Amino acid sequence: MSSPFSLLPEQASTFAVGVDNIYFFLVAVSVFFTALIAALLIFFAVKYRRRPGVSSQPVGEDPLLETLWLAIPFVIVMVMFVWGAVLYAQWAKPPQDSMTVYAVGKQWMWKFQHPTGPREINELHVPVGVPVKLLMTSEDVIHSLYVPAFRVKTDVVPGRYSTVWFEATQTGVFHLFCAEFCGSYHSQMTGRVVVQSPSDYENWLVRGGTGGTASLASDGEQLFRSLGCATCHVPDSEARAPKLAGLFGKSVALNSGRRVKADETYLRESILLPSAKVVQGYETLMPSYQGQVNEEQLVQLVSYLKSLQEAP
Ligand code: CUA
Repeated sequence: MSSPFSLLPEQASTFAVGVDNIYFFLVAVSVFFTALIAALLIFFAVKYRRRPGVSSQPVGEDPLLETLWLAIPFVIVMVMFVWGAVLYAQWAKPPQDSMTVYAVGKQWMWKFQHPTGPREINELHVPVGVPVKLLMTSEDVIHSLYVPAFRVKTDVVPGRYSTVWFEATQTGVFHLFCAEFCGSYHSQMTGRVVVQSPSDYENWLVRGGTGGTASLASDGEQLFRSLGCATCHVPDSEARAPKLAGLFGKSVALNSGRRVKADETYLRESILLPSAKVVQGYETLMPSYQGQVNEEQLVQLVSYLKSLQEAP
Protein backbone atom coordinates (compact mmCIF):
# COMPACT_ATOMS: atom_id res chain seq x y z
CA MET A 1 0.00 0.00 0.00
CA SER A 2 1.06 3.58 -0.50
CA SER A 3 2.70 5.54 2.26
CA PRO A 4 0.37 7.95 4.10
CA PHE A 5 2.31 10.97 2.86
CA SER A 6 2.53 10.30 -0.85
CA LEU A 7 1.27 13.09 -3.08
CA LEU A 8 -0.47 10.71 -5.48
CA PRO A 9 -1.73 7.14 -5.23
CA GLU A 10 0.46 4.34 -6.52
CA GLN A 11 0.80 4.00 -10.28
CA ALA A 12 -0.70 0.55 -10.67
CA SER A 13 -2.16 0.49 -14.19
CA THR A 14 -1.01 1.18 -17.70
CA PHE A 15 -2.91 4.50 -17.59
CA ALA A 16 -1.30 5.80 -14.44
CA VAL A 17 1.94 7.25 -15.84
CA GLY A 18 0.23 8.95 -18.77
CA VAL A 19 -2.48 10.48 -16.58
CA ASP A 20 0.05 11.68 -14.00
CA ASN A 21 2.26 13.23 -16.68
CA ILE A 22 -0.52 15.30 -18.21
CA TYR A 23 -1.76 16.22 -14.76
CA PHE A 24 1.69 17.52 -13.79
CA PHE A 25 1.89 19.41 -17.08
CA LEU A 26 -1.46 21.14 -16.41
CA VAL A 27 -0.47 22.00 -12.86
CA ALA A 28 2.95 23.26 -14.01
CA VAL A 29 1.42 25.51 -16.70
CA SER A 30 -1.12 26.88 -14.21
CA VAL A 31 1.48 27.53 -11.53
CA PHE A 32 3.91 29.14 -14.00
CA PHE A 33 1.35 31.60 -15.39
CA THR A 34 -0.18 32.34 -12.00
CA ALA A 35 3.28 33.19 -10.64
CA LEU A 36 4.23 35.18 -13.75
CA ILE A 37 1.05 37.27 -13.68
CA ALA A 38 1.27 37.88 -9.92
CA ALA A 39 4.94 38.93 -10.21
CA LEU A 40 4.27 41.27 -13.13
CA LEU A 41 1.30 42.78 -11.32
CA ILE A 42 3.42 43.70 -8.35
CA PHE A 43 6.37 44.81 -10.49
CA PHE A 44 4.26 47.13 -12.69
CA ALA A 45 2.34 48.50 -9.73
CA VAL A 46 5.58 49.61 -8.19
CA LYS A 47 7.35 50.70 -11.38
CA TYR A 48 4.45 52.75 -12.78
CA ARG A 49 3.09 54.14 -9.54
CA ARG A 50 1.87 57.73 -9.54
CA ARG A 51 4.65 60.18 -8.82
CA PRO A 52 4.68 63.97 -8.72
CA GLY A 53 5.77 65.51 -11.99
CA VAL A 54 5.24 62.35 -14.09
CA SER A 55 2.19 62.22 -16.34
CA SER A 56 0.86 59.02 -17.97
CA GLN A 57 1.51 58.37 -21.67
CA PRO A 58 -1.10 57.00 -24.08
CA VAL A 59 -0.46 53.34 -24.91
CA GLY A 60 0.24 52.59 -28.58
CA GLU A 61 -0.34 49.41 -30.58
CA ASP A 62 2.22 46.65 -30.69
CA PRO A 63 1.38 44.03 -33.38
CA LEU A 64 4.25 41.74 -32.36
CA LEU A 65 3.18 41.67 -28.72
CA GLU A 66 -0.45 41.05 -29.66
CA THR A 67 0.49 38.21 -32.00
CA LEU A 68 2.58 36.61 -29.29
CA TRP A 69 -0.10 36.72 -26.63
CA LEU A 70 -2.47 35.00 -29.02
CA ALA A 71 -0.01 32.48 -30.46
CA ILE A 72 1.65 31.26 -27.25
CA PRO A 73 -1.58 30.37 -25.39
CA PHE A 74 -2.91 28.81 -28.60
CA VAL A 75 0.08 26.49 -28.87
CA ILE A 76 -0.15 25.58 -25.17
CA VAL A 77 -3.86 24.73 -25.23
CA MET A 78 -3.44 22.73 -28.44
CA VAL A 79 -0.75 20.66 -26.73
CA MET A 80 -3.20 20.07 -23.85
CA PHE A 81 -5.97 19.17 -26.27
CA VAL A 82 -4.03 16.72 -28.44
CA TRP A 83 -2.28 15.11 -25.48
CA GLY A 84 -5.57 14.72 -23.59
CA ALA A 85 -7.41 13.43 -26.67
CA VAL A 86 -4.77 10.73 -27.28
CA LEU A 87 -5.06 9.54 -23.64
CA TYR A 88 -8.84 9.68 -23.81
CA ALA A 89 -8.88 7.58 -26.98
CA GLN A 90 -6.81 4.88 -25.26
CA TRP A 91 -9.04 5.03 -22.20
CA ALA A 92 -12.30 4.93 -24.15
CA LYS A 93 -11.64 1.83 -26.24
CA PRO A 94 -11.04 -1.46 -24.43
CA PRO A 95 -8.66 -3.79 -26.30
CA GLN A 96 -10.33 -6.62 -28.25
CA ASP A 97 -8.85 -9.30 -26.01
CA SER A 98 -10.09 -7.76 -22.73
CA MET A 99 -11.51 -9.99 -20.08
CA THR A 100 -15.06 -8.88 -19.15
CA VAL A 101 -16.25 -8.62 -15.58
CA TYR A 102 -19.77 -7.42 -14.83
CA ALA A 103 -20.34 -4.83 -12.13
CA VAL A 104 -23.60 -3.72 -10.56
CA GLY A 105 -23.71 -0.70 -8.26
CA LYS A 106 -26.41 -0.64 -5.64
CA GLN A 107 -27.09 1.46 -2.55
CA TRP A 108 -24.56 0.84 -1.05
CA MET A 109 -22.37 -1.87 -2.44
CA TRP A 110 -20.50 -3.04 -5.49
CA LYS A 111 -21.32 -6.45 -6.88
CA PHE A 112 -19.03 -8.13 -9.38
CA GLN A 113 -19.64 -11.25 -11.45
CA HIS A 114 -16.90 -13.08 -13.31
CA PRO A 115 -17.87 -14.84 -16.55
CA THR A 116 -16.88 -18.26 -15.21
CA GLY A 117 -19.08 -17.96 -12.15
CA PRO A 118 -17.55 -16.40 -9.04
CA ARG A 119 -19.34 -13.40 -7.61
CA GLU A 120 -18.04 -10.99 -5.05
CA ILE A 121 -19.20 -7.97 -3.12
CA ASN A 122 -17.04 -4.90 -2.53
CA GLU A 123 -14.05 -6.82 -3.73
CA LEU A 124 -12.76 -7.36 -7.24
CA HIS A 125 -10.12 -9.93 -8.09
CA VAL A 126 -8.27 -9.42 -11.37
CA PRO A 127 -5.08 -10.82 -12.88
CA VAL A 128 -2.05 -8.59 -13.40
CA GLY A 129 -1.02 -7.71 -16.95
CA VAL A 130 -4.38 -8.57 -18.50
CA PRO A 131 -6.74 -5.92 -19.87
CA VAL A 132 -9.97 -6.08 -17.87
CA LYS A 133 -13.17 -4.50 -19.11
CA LEU A 134 -15.88 -3.76 -16.57
CA LEU A 135 -19.40 -3.70 -17.96
CA MET A 136 -21.30 -1.75 -15.36
CA THR A 137 -24.81 -0.74 -14.49
CA SER A 138 -26.77 0.39 -11.45
CA GLU A 139 -29.82 -1.04 -9.69
CA ASP A 140 -30.92 2.35 -8.39
CA VAL A 141 -29.15 5.72 -8.62
CA ILE A 142 -26.01 7.01 -10.31
CA HIS A 143 -22.81 5.69 -8.76
CA SER A 144 -19.27 6.09 -10.01
CA LEU A 145 -16.59 3.45 -9.91
CA TYR A 146 -13.23 4.92 -8.97
CA VAL A 147 -9.91 3.14 -8.54
CA PRO A 148 -7.35 5.88 -7.82
CA ALA A 149 -4.31 3.63 -8.26
CA PHE A 150 -5.49 2.77 -11.77
CA ARG A 151 -6.50 6.37 -12.57
CA VAL A 152 -9.92 5.25 -13.77
CA LYS A 153 -13.29 6.64 -12.79
CA THR A 154 -16.53 6.09 -14.68
CA ASP A 155 -20.16 6.77 -13.84
CA VAL A 156 -22.42 3.78 -13.33
CA VAL A 157 -25.87 4.77 -14.53
CA PRO A 158 -29.20 3.00 -14.03
CA GLY A 159 -30.83 1.79 -17.24
CA ARG A 160 -27.69 1.46 -19.33
CA TYR A 161 -24.33 -0.19 -19.48
CA SER A 162 -21.17 1.83 -19.17
CA THR A 163 -17.70 0.41 -19.56
CA VAL A 164 -14.29 1.12 -18.22
CA TRP A 165 -11.10 -0.85 -18.76
CA PHE A 166 -7.69 -1.06 -17.17
CA GLU A 167 -4.63 -3.25 -17.14
CA ALA A 168 -3.01 -3.60 -13.74
CA THR A 169 0.77 -3.46 -13.79
CA GLN A 170 1.51 -4.76 -10.31
CA THR A 171 -0.02 -7.19 -7.86
CA GLY A 172 -1.44 -5.86 -4.61
CA VAL A 173 -4.57 -4.51 -2.99
CA PHE A 174 -5.97 -1.15 -4.06
CA HIS A 175 -8.83 1.06 -2.93
CA LEU A 176 -12.12 1.08 -4.76
CA PHE A 177 -14.52 3.96 -4.18
CA CYS A 178 -17.88 5.26 -5.23
CA ALA A 179 -17.21 8.77 -6.47
CA GLU A 180 -20.76 10.02 -6.96
CA PHE A 181 -22.90 11.09 -4.02
CA CYS A 182 -25.56 8.38 -3.91
CA GLY A 183 -27.27 8.68 -0.54
CA SER A 184 -26.73 8.31 3.19
CA TYR A 185 -24.02 5.67 3.06
CA HIS A 186 -22.23 6.87 -0.07
CA SER A 187 -19.03 7.23 1.94
CA GLN A 188 -19.20 3.57 2.89
CA MET A 189 -19.62 2.35 -0.65
CA THR A 190 -16.01 1.32 -0.86
CA GLY A 191 -14.10 -1.84 -1.53
CA ARG A 192 -10.82 -3.17 -2.76
CA VAL A 193 -9.33 -4.44 -5.95
CA VAL A 194 -7.10 -7.46 -5.47
CA VAL A 195 -4.59 -7.81 -8.28
CA GLN A 196 -3.12 -11.29 -8.45
CA SER A 197 -0.63 -13.13 -10.63
CA PRO A 198 -2.44 -15.02 -13.40
CA SER A 199 -1.91 -18.37 -11.63
CA ASP A 200 -3.19 -17.06 -8.27
CA TYR A 201 -6.15 -15.59 -10.09
CA GLU A 202 -6.91 -18.95 -11.72
CA ASN A 203 -6.79 -20.57 -8.28
CA TRP A 204 -9.07 -17.92 -6.88
CA LEU A 205 -11.56 -18.46 -9.72
CA VAL A 206 -11.76 -22.15 -8.83
CA ARG A 207 -12.48 -21.72 -5.15
CA GLY A 208 -13.22 -18.00 -4.77
CA GLY A 209 -16.18 -15.71 -4.58
CA THR A 210 -19.63 -16.43 -3.33
CA GLY A 211 -22.65 -17.66 -5.17
CA GLY A 212 -21.68 -20.64 -7.05
CA THR A 213 -19.61 -22.44 -9.52
CA ALA A 214 -21.97 -22.24 -12.46
CA SER A 215 -20.88 -19.87 -15.19
CA LEU A 216 -22.85 -16.73 -15.87
CA ALA A 217 -23.96 -18.14 -19.21
CA SER A 218 -25.34 -21.35 -17.69
CA ASP A 219 -27.18 -19.36 -15.01
CA GLY A 220 -28.53 -17.28 -17.89
CA GLU A 221 -29.64 -20.38 -19.74
CA GLN A 222 -31.60 -21.55 -16.69
CA LEU A 223 -33.28 -18.17 -16.42
CA PHE A 224 -33.99 -18.23 -20.13
CA ARG A 225 -35.93 -21.47 -19.63
CA SER A 226 -37.64 -20.57 -16.36
CA LEU A 227 -38.85 -17.23 -17.72
CA GLY A 228 -40.35 -19.02 -20.68
CA CYS A 229 -38.18 -17.31 -23.29
CA ALA A 230 -37.62 -20.66 -24.94
CA THR A 231 -41.28 -20.88 -25.88
CA CYS A 232 -40.65 -18.48 -28.74
CA HIS A 233 -36.87 -18.15 -28.89
CA VAL A 234 -35.49 -21.41 -30.14
CA PRO A 235 -31.87 -20.25 -30.26
CA ASP A 236 -31.09 -21.69 -33.66
CA SER A 237 -34.37 -21.02 -35.41
CA GLU A 238 -36.04 -17.92 -36.74
CA ALA A 239 -39.54 -19.29 -37.06
CA ARG A 240 -41.26 -17.45 -34.21
CA ALA A 241 -38.62 -14.97 -33.12
CA PRO A 242 -35.34 -13.65 -34.47
CA LYS A 243 -32.46 -16.09 -34.41
CA LEU A 244 -30.31 -15.72 -31.33
CA ALA A 245 -27.36 -17.94 -32.16
CA GLY A 246 -24.44 -15.89 -33.43
CA LEU A 247 -26.40 -12.67 -32.91
CA PHE A 248 -23.99 -10.92 -30.54
CA GLY A 249 -21.82 -8.35 -32.25
CA LYS A 250 -23.75 -8.47 -35.53
CA SER A 251 -25.52 -5.58 -37.17
CA VAL A 252 -29.29 -6.00 -37.04
CA ALA A 253 -31.84 -4.54 -39.47
CA LEU A 254 -34.86 -3.06 -37.68
CA ASN A 255 -38.47 -2.50 -38.71
CA SER A 256 -37.83 1.22 -38.55
CA GLY A 257 -35.30 0.87 -41.35
CA ARG A 258 -32.36 1.61 -39.08
CA ARG A 259 -29.59 -0.80 -38.18
CA VAL A 260 -28.14 -1.36 -34.73
CA LYS A 261 -25.21 -3.34 -33.44
CA ALA A 262 -26.29 -6.23 -31.22
CA ASP A 263 -24.14 -5.31 -28.24
CA GLU A 264 -24.86 -5.77 -24.55
CA THR A 265 -26.90 -2.57 -24.37
CA TYR A 266 -29.12 -3.68 -27.26
CA LEU A 267 -29.69 -7.14 -25.77
CA ARG A 268 -30.53 -5.66 -22.37
CA GLU A 269 -32.94 -3.15 -23.88
CA SER A 270 -34.65 -5.80 -25.99
CA ILE A 271 -35.39 -7.84 -22.85
CA LEU A 272 -36.78 -4.87 -20.93
CA LEU A 273 -38.35 -2.88 -23.77
CA PRO A 274 -38.93 -5.34 -26.60
CA SER A 275 -40.90 -2.82 -28.66
CA ALA A 276 -38.10 -0.25 -28.73
CA LYS A 277 -36.09 -1.86 -31.54
CA VAL A 278 -38.03 -4.57 -33.35
CA VAL A 279 -36.14 -6.72 -35.84
CA GLN A 280 -37.16 -6.33 -39.46
CA GLY A 281 -39.92 -8.73 -40.47
CA TYR A 282 -41.21 -9.39 -36.95
CA GLU A 283 -44.09 -8.02 -34.95
CA THR A 284 -43.99 -6.73 -31.40
CA LEU A 285 -45.28 -9.81 -29.65
CA MET A 286 -42.75 -10.13 -26.88
CA PRO A 287 -43.83 -8.89 -23.42
CA SER A 288 -41.57 -6.68 -21.40
CA TYR A 289 -39.53 -8.27 -18.62
CA GLN A 290 -39.14 -5.02 -16.75
CA GLY A 291 -39.50 -5.69 -13.03
CA GLN A 292 -39.16 -9.45 -13.46
CA VAL A 293 -35.41 -9.61 -13.75
CA ASN A 294 -32.87 -7.60 -11.79
CA GLU A 295 -29.61 -6.25 -13.18
CA GLU A 296 -27.62 -9.29 -12.08
CA GLN A 297 -30.04 -11.62 -13.84
CA LEU A 298 -29.95 -9.40 -16.92
CA VAL A 299 -26.19 -9.81 -16.97
CA GLN A 300 -26.65 -13.57 -16.82
CA LEU A 301 -29.17 -13.52 -19.66
CA VAL A 302 -26.91 -11.30 -21.74
CA SER A 303 -23.98 -13.65 -21.08
CA TYR A 304 -26.06 -16.59 -22.21
CA LEU A 305 -27.06 -14.79 -25.41
CA LYS A 306 -23.40 -13.92 -26.03
CA SER A 307 -22.43 -17.54 -25.59
CA LEU A 308 -24.81 -18.80 -28.28
CA GLN A 309 -22.74 -19.62 -31.31
CA GLU A 310 -24.09 -20.21 -34.76
CA ALA A 311 -24.23 -23.88 -35.71
CA PRO A 312 -21.49 -24.55 -38.27
CU1 CUA B 1 -22.63 4.87 -4.80
CU2 CUA B 1 -21.79 6.95 -3.97
